[in-house]
Parts: sequence; C-alpha cells; structure tokens
Amino acid sequence: MKRFMYLLFPCLFSLFLVDCAADGNGYFMYADFWCAVYSREQAQVEYLVDWYFNKEFMMQYNSTVGNWTGFTPAGLNTASMLNGDKYDILQRKIERQLICVNNVGLVLNITEENRAEPSVTLVETTSSSHETMLVCSAYDFYPKYIKVAWHQNGQEVTSGVTVSDVMTNGDWTYQVHSYLEYTPGRQDRVSCVVEHASLSEPKILDWDPSLNHSERSYLIGGVCALLLGAVFLSLGLIQYKRKSCDPRFSNTL
Ligand SMILES: *[C@@H]1O[C@H](CO)[C@@H](O)[C@H](O)[C@H]1NC(C)=O
Repeated sequence: MKRFMYLLFPCLFSLFLVDCAADGNGYFMYADFWCAVYSREQAQVEYLVDWYFNKEFMMQYNSTVGNWTGFTPAGLNTASMLNGDKYDILQRKIERQLICVNNVGLVLNITEENRAEPSVTLVETTSSSHETMLVCSAYDFYPKYIKVAWHQNGQEVTSGVTVSDVMTNGDWTYQVHSYLEYTPGRQDRVSCVVEHASLSEPKILDWDPSLNHSERSYLIGGVCALLLGAVFLSLGLIQYKRKSCDPRFSNTL
C-alpha cells in the first residue's frame, strides 16, 4: 500500500500522464477524462475523471459532486488529500470549462448531424436450454443511447428480459438485442418498444402469437407444394386423356 501511494502522488500532479502509465514492467495506471452532456444547458454539463490503478477503479472526480470520491483504500486517501487542495479544485473547474463546456455545441451538432434511425425486428427463437424466446433487435442506430422495452398487455415487463451490450457495427452505428422468455400459446399481447433520439415517437412492434415465423414459412411452403402437385396432376391427366384419344395409341392397344 505504501508503495502504491508513493507512486500515485507524483502522478496525480503531473501533466505527463504517459510517464505514469508505464513503469518498467508496462501498464499500470490509466485515467479517463470525459464529459457527460445531457442537453445544451451548460450548467448541466458534467466533467468526470475516472482513475484506475492496476485496472481497478480507484477514484472518480465528478464536477456535479464537486470533488473526488475514492473507492479503494488508496483511492480514499488520495481523494481526501485532493479534496483539501484548493489548487486541484480550481484546476478541475478550469478543465471542466475548457474540455467540456466550451465544446458542448460542437459535440451536440456532430451527434445530431449523424443521427441514424434504428431498424427494428422481432422474431422467435429457441435458446440453448430449449426455451422459447422473443428477440427484439435494433440495428444501425446512432447515437449509442437507446431504450428497448417489452410490453405485455400494455404494461412494461422487466422479468425474464435479457439485454445484450450495445455493440458497435464497426462504423459509427450500433446494434442491440433484447430477449424475452416467452410461453408460446399464451394469449398475451406482447410488443417491443424502442425509444431513440432519432425517433419522434417510439417504434412499436407487436408480436403475432397465432403464427410464429417458422410456422408461417412451413405453411407457405406446404401450400406451394400442394399447388405444384395439383398443377402436375392436372397436366398429367390432360396428357393421359390426349393419349387415350389419339387413334395411333388406340390402334396399338
Ligand atoms: C455525478 O454525480 C451526480 C450527483 O451525485 C449524479 O447524479 C451523476 O449521475 C454523476 N454522474 C455520473 C456520470 O456518474
């Protein structure tokens, strides 16, 4: 612990974080400076510093709280030391202004210009444990924040719901998948409700419990086969009739 503290202090005051990020053995310290922007209201802009040591989240500065919060013993010590330092407090206020507040307009304009509407699908699937699940997927949306909810008879349900992480598509857009445990044959009205910044109102997809997609495709396949069979049968009959009327064939019989 002593050694950690000793290593930590000079780093916190250093502007050259790279020096702290690698000792002779490689990676050990990491800090993430970021802004949380909720609206164009500058007073609401939050400036945050997440501080990690050996990949452990040890303390955070949150400008709304106005000071550092420690999460590990070393983090608690360092946080209380920094919170008593009026220069650190001043430095973070200036950083908030320069890094976050001055760039809010720019960040929001870029976000708005690149907005992309999610395309939403709702299908039935079977999980590895052979349970039936409904999968609601939202594809190709931006920005990242999205809400995918399940409604059963008009009420939001949260039990039996699993949501994947929001995954990047490799470009600037994202996708997410939400799974609902589902008992086939129950006469519930189930729908998937997607809310996103690009949508003026939520996208709602209703599940049709009478026929799921695979049953529907079997049915369509069956009807097609039946029709095809009927066509061949009638062709065969016509041919047979022709042949039996043809005198050449009658003669040979
Ligand atoms: C910062 O602190 C405020 C007040 O406690 C809290 O509401 C907010 O969620 C925090 N911000 C983040 C990004 O955690």
